Amino acid sequence: MRALVTGGAGFVGSHVVDALLTRGVEVHVLDNLSSGRRENVAAAAIFHEGDIRDPEDAFAAARPELVFHLGAQASVSVSVQRPIHDADINVLGTVRVLEAARLYNAKLVFSSTGGAIYGDVAGPAAEDHPRAPISPYGTAKLAGEEYLLTWNRLHHTKHVIIRYGNVYGPRQDPHGEAGVVAIFLKKVARGEVPTIFGDGSQVRDYVCVRDVARATLAAANAEPDVFNIASGSGSTVLELVAAMRAAVGQAFPVEHGPARLGDLRRSELDVTRAARRLRWQPEMSLEHDLHETWEYFRNR
Ligand SMILES: NC(=O)c1ccc[n+]([C@@H]2O[C@H](COP(=O)([O-])OP(=O)(O)OC[C@H]3O[C@@H](n4cnc5c(N)ncnc54)[C@H](O)[C@@H]3O)[C@@H](O)[C@H]2O)c1
Repeated sequence: MRALVTGGAGFVGSHVVDALLTRGVEVHVLDNLSSGRRENVAAAAIFHEGDIRDPEDAFAAARPELVFHLGAQASVSVSVQRPIHDADINVLGTVRVLEAARLYNAKLVFSSTGGAIYGDVAGPAAEDHPRAPISPYGTAKLAGEEYLLTWNRLHHTKHVIIRYGNVYGPRQDPHGEAGVVAIFLKKVARGEVPTIFGDGSQVRDYVCVRDVARATLAAANAEPDVFNIASGSGSTVLELVAAMRAAVGQAFPVEHGPARLGDLRRSELDVTRAARRLRWQPEMSLEHDLHETWEYFRNR
């Protein structure tokens, strides 16, 4: 089996690469290293430095049977500042990857987003929850989903969409505006004080990157569908900080800053469909996974 992972030098993509390699798959990576890192890519994978908006050469070299499309402009705030740039990568880049995959009859799994598509929710949102993006990033991801569904109808492809919750774990960029676990643990490792925006009662659905990688591979065997991939229950930032303190083994201090404009109050995903149809559920616990993530950041 040959697979091509776009964005495979990034945080989630590099774990998908690792999971594929352990299953004996020949893995190719297409990444322009705009936010990913070459050292994230396992030596056994074949790396093609290039852009998803110009993917033909990498596809010709890889001749993939499976495509995992994670390459993206993944920052909400960049999408607000540079919506045309965001749409260029996340919409047109996705259309180009869909077209390249079609040439090789490859099945595609598209990594989309739950939080940025459902917007603020009252409780765990299932896949048919009304879609209400409040950022160009969410809108572009939704457009990518619609293109994929159109390809399934028009070209009878069997592509699958997966919508992640808030993913955390080793290799997450601690310098971005999102990724609270990476940002906080990196600050604690440096002896700095992390800042909670607002009162810390905002709810997110945190899921460990290894569970996400496993679900992403499972989606490749599924019938065309859309699946939420998250823990299925939310935690407040204050609860997360308590779990991080337990994982780190010290009651590190935090400070509070003003709430950020546009931040969701609550983002929580219902994962019943993934449990039933992918036979997937998150295996690990927040405490265990945070401890592993802490070990990663404290040593860097
Ligand atoms: N991390 C999360 O919590 C989360 C949540 C929901 C959805 N997602 C989605 O999962 C995917 C991976 O996210 P991540 O957190 O690993 O982000 P990331 O920034 O670490 O990974 C994205 C990768 O895509 C590459 N890339 C960006 N533009 C490219 C281009 N034009 N051509 C080729 N490569 C390009 C980057 O260099 C990077 O390696 C993204 O599609 C993102 O939208 C992530």
